[in-house]
Amino acid sequence: MGESNRLAIRGQVLQFTADPFQLGTENACRFWSDGVVVVEDGVIRSVGQASDLLADVGPDVEVHDYAGRLIMAGFVDTHVHYPQMEVIASYGAQLIEWLNDYTFPAEGRFRDRDYAAKVAGLFLQESLRNGITTSAVYCTVHPESVDAFFEAAAPYGLRVIAGKVMMDRNAPDFLTDTAQSAYDDSKILIERWHGKGRALYGLTPRFAPTSTDAQLEAAGTLWQETPGVYMQTHVSENRQELAWVAELFPDCSDYLGVYEKYGLLGPRCVLGHGIYLSEREKAVIAETGSAVAHCPTSNLFIGSGLFDLAASQQRADPLRVGLATDIGGGTSLSIFATLRAAYEIAQLQSFSLHPIQAFYLATLGGAKSLYLDDKIGNLAPGYEADMVVIDLKSTPMITQRMEHAKDLTEALFIQMILADDRAIEATYSAGRRIYARDAGQN
Ligand code: GUN
Ligand code: ZN
Repeated sequence: MGESNRLAIRGQVLQFTADPFQLGTENACRFWSDGVVVVEDGVIRSVGQASDLLADVGPDVEVHDYAGRLIMAGFVDTHVHYPQMEVIASYGAQLIEWLNDYTFPAEGRFRDRDYAAKVAGLFLQESLRNGITTSAVYCTVHPESVDAFFEAAAPYGLRVIAGKVMMDRNAPDFLTDTAQSAYDDSKILIERWHGKGRALYGLTPRFAPTSTDAQLEAAGTLWQETPGVYMQTHVSENRQELAWVAELFPDCSDYLGVYEKYGLLGPRCVLGHGIYLSEREKAVIAETGSAVAHCPTSNLFIGSGLFDLAASQQRADPLRVGLATDIGGGTSLSIFATLRAAYEIAQLQSFSLHPIQAFYLATLGGAKSLYLDDKIGNLAPGYEADMVVIDLKSTPMITQRMEHAKDLTEALFIQMILADDRAIEATYSAGRRIYARDAGQN
């Protein structure tokens, strides 16, 4: 019995040892071409050379053999809207019009708990099919949408963050709460879900234009009262939005100043987009330990602009930055597609995002932006065993290209440019295989 909860996952194993943006890509990881991750009770016990570690654990341990495939920490999506699954690929609008014409009408449907449950289930299955094991999720204004999401996530045992959107102005009546009801409902949801299993709660004032001063103040108060809870919102995504915020909050010197005024910055604050942040705003983000979620496919698709990832890292006080799909402004739940867009955006800014940096961003970098880098985002002893198994030859195009790959770096680059969900062979949550591509359905 004592041995039955032990498991060894064998294959090519990638582990991060440092931040490749700060310490260089040469010294940021370790790689075992025949490695193994030994898991016990959902936690990684050891990582290393298969021949050594398998001899240590003895012959009785169950082995999942993925020879030739790449095992790394599960992907971390630091900003995503599950109710927007149904507006992905909506034509011809930029942010404000896109919200009004597509997003708000869709979010209205989440008052219906059964409908929310159906979409939440689909969203989670699709995330797992793309190797994502942690997401920071916006639900809708309806508390039912939050219950539906956490209930759908519970059987998978995932480390997820989610919260009820707070908005009390500049949105349709069927989607607005009040400062008081947002406070009360969020507080109840925190008590119900925060710390239940691996689930965590995130206060979610949508963005400055849809909250009154009173609501932002209530959010700040509640955040202070609930240590460990997250705080997520949008900032500086679109030029029209920036002008609107300046009009709505004339006493604040800039967009970030609104959140600063109400005590909404600090560790575990995740700010989506951040494309047009000033030097002052970036310094405040660094100083307060807040994080930015880089949403490359969304920023291209909605035509918002180009986030300067290189500048965010090449400063004396580098920002915490995570990668994000931002469905449904974003166009894919594939982390490969998201990294490809991040690469292309960086290329336009004369920075070639290195594949080691890219996969760091998708795993440990994301975890660091969420202050979870001691628990998830890496394969190392003591970490929660969230893992993804990548088939490096998932299509004929990739297979022929891989024949010319010199090393791990090139293999990773080929994946981030060419691969999609077909390359995700398996996804593990806390040591449990909860998605297997070849089993058909999880
Ligand atoms: N700003 C406020 N709400 C949203 C949203 O749902 N998506 C995006 N991309 N930006 C936003
Ligand atoms: Zn968003």
